[in-house]
Amino acid sequence: MGRLDGKVAIITGGSRGQGEAEVRLFVAEGAKVVISDVLVDAGQALAAELGDAAVFTRHDVSSEEEWANAVALAQDRFGRFDVLVNNAGIAHTASIAAHTVADFERVQAVNQLGVFLGIRSAIEPMSNAGGGSIVNISSGAGLRATKYMIAYAASKYAVTGMTAAAAMELARYRIRVNSVHPGVIATPMLDANSPEMNAAMVAHSPMRRMGEPLEIAQAVLFLASDESSFMTGAHVPVDGGAIL
Ligand SMILES: NC(=O)c1ccc[n+]([C@@H]2O[C@H](COP(=O)([O-])OP(=O)(O)OC[C@H]3O[C@@H](n4cnc5c(N)ncnc54)[C@H](O)[C@@H]3O)[C@@H](O)[C@H]2O)c1
Repeated sequence: MGRLDGKVAIITGGSRGQGEAEVRLFVAEGAKVVISDVLVDAGQALAAELGDAAVFTRHDVSSEEEWANAVALAQDRFGRFDVLVNNAGIAHTASIAAHTVADFERVQAVNQLGVFLGIRSAIEPMSNAGGGSIVNISSGAGLRATKYMIAYAASKYAVTGMTAAAAMELARYRIRVNSVHPGVIATPMLDANSPEMNAAMVAHSPMRRMGEPLEIAQAVLFLASDESSFMTGAHVPVDGGAIL
């Protein structure tokens, strides 16, 4: 028996990296999954590999209209919508002085507005279904200081705050809202950083290594499943101890 049997999930940014690991694990645990991403070829290939349990949709999380399409797809294809993983995100690394307004706004549009739109889109279908679970992927940068990533830090602290606010407001609909705060995880997102920057981030952590996408997916699975039924408003670091 799967830990997500009977559940239908939307996983944003599901085409690669941590989102892909979550898609694979959720399907292995019995869920039906809508893979949402702007990365079309990889998302379509993943959905084709997973067969009837998954469907891909090109979905920019910063678009209000496209959220309505993604939710409608979950309901039309799989009949319900119980789990939302707000995983899609982008990073921008530069000194504060070198950040442009356009850089700042682009990061907020995906990481902050995208999560807000996702939470808002889930309320009606999840409350009609008797409840649900929303897992927001923040970051260590949403809990503690990070150098050279001011726009990203602003967006990830916003995810932490929205998680708390939504948990308070949505508990009465039996919708739980928690956040996961990955440390340095080996995904294509890190390719934009210099090797020195990635090494410095790893050196910050007691375990002295990067995490693997599956190590995040395991925590997301727990929060998505009924095993975490008394958890809401929690901010869960999965970071090899980097928060210490
Ligand atoms: N990799 C890390 O070290 C790390 C650490 C902490 C937090 N995170 C967070 O984890 C999440 C997953 O990142 P990852 O490491 O797998 O990186 P990644 O770059 O491999 O994957 C991010 C995915 O999001 C998608 N995406 C980007 N913009 C989008 C948009 N507008 N709409 C829909 N999809 C969009 C990308 O196409 C990609 O598939 C992100 O929220 C990221 O901020 C990553």
